Amino acid sequence: MNSLGTLGIEITGLDICRDLAGDAGDNLFGDIHAAWLEAGGFMVIRDQDMTQEQHMGFSRRFGPLFHDDGQPPLQDTVSRYLHPDHPQIYRVSNKVDENGEPTGRKGAGTYWHSDVSFRDHPAHASVLYGIQVPPRGGDTVFANMTAAYEALSDGMKGMIDGLHAVHDFAVAAATQYAKPVVIDNDFDGANRCVHPVVRTHADTGKKSLYINPGFTSHLDGFTPAESKPILEPLYTHATKQDFLYRHNWRPHDVVVWDNRCLMHYAVMDYTADRYMERCTVIGEKPV
Ligand code: OGA
Ligand code: MN
Repeated sequence: MNSLGTLGIEITGLDICRDLAGDAGDNLFGDIHAAWLEAGGFMVIRDQDMTQEQHMGFSRRFGPLFHDDGQPPLQDTVSRYLHPDHPQIYRVSNKVDENGEPTGRKGAGTYWHSDVSFRDHPAHASVLYGIQVPPRGGDTVFANMTAAYEALSDGMKGMIDGLHAVHDFAVAAATQYAKPVVIDNDFDGANRCVHPVVRTHADTGKKSLYINPGFTSHLDGFTPAESKPILEPLYTHATKQDFLYRHNWRPHDVVVWDNRCLMHYAVMDYTADRYMERCTVIGEKPV
């Protein structure tokens, strides 16, 4: 196990399907889960070979997945990217199929965000399986929102503790999705909610900034114009080099990140094929 920046670990020599399957894998999963939390919420497990069932099975060790309940996706705009046989699997891909249709969401999140923060129960872990990765480029950058919070002055902490922010999928939909793709009700507040600006991690008890430029619209009770001069410097602060780790994908990496205390950004600097599958764990309501 190697540490990565201030926020994660790299695991080699582990076979998720062999070593973590069934009851026999419980203790080892417990150790890995504890190490993941302790490290700051990022891990890469190298050299995996998983079926979609195995990917979902591993991801469910963290909790129930979005669409496990069989309900139609609330976030209609991205429903086209879900795997047709397994709606729990969201496809991140720049490839097209034989009919020229996209096989997934291209450049998923070319903006700083925390997955699904526009829902009352946003994502806890995201488990992204890098099935095909470009030889160069296509990295994902992660920002440590716990370290960013802790580095603020007591004055700033005091000012933002207790504030709430509105998160709305429409913020990203407006700028990041082509017009024909966006489904109207995604602009109607179907995916809008309010969360604390500083959240306390349910497992570690640590405080993190929980705002992101991708989905956070404004501070609750403030106008957008009033919110901007408070939120923008926090984003600039949180994305300083000091708090970042840039993941360079190798084929068959399984990356697990904790959306409760990290933001991430997909770098779009490649043209070669990139195909990944993501399972997303439903989290608790942030407090
Ligand atoms: C995601 C995402 C980043 C990437 O899957 O949630 O933001 O680099 N992906 O593909
Ligand atoms: Mn994402």
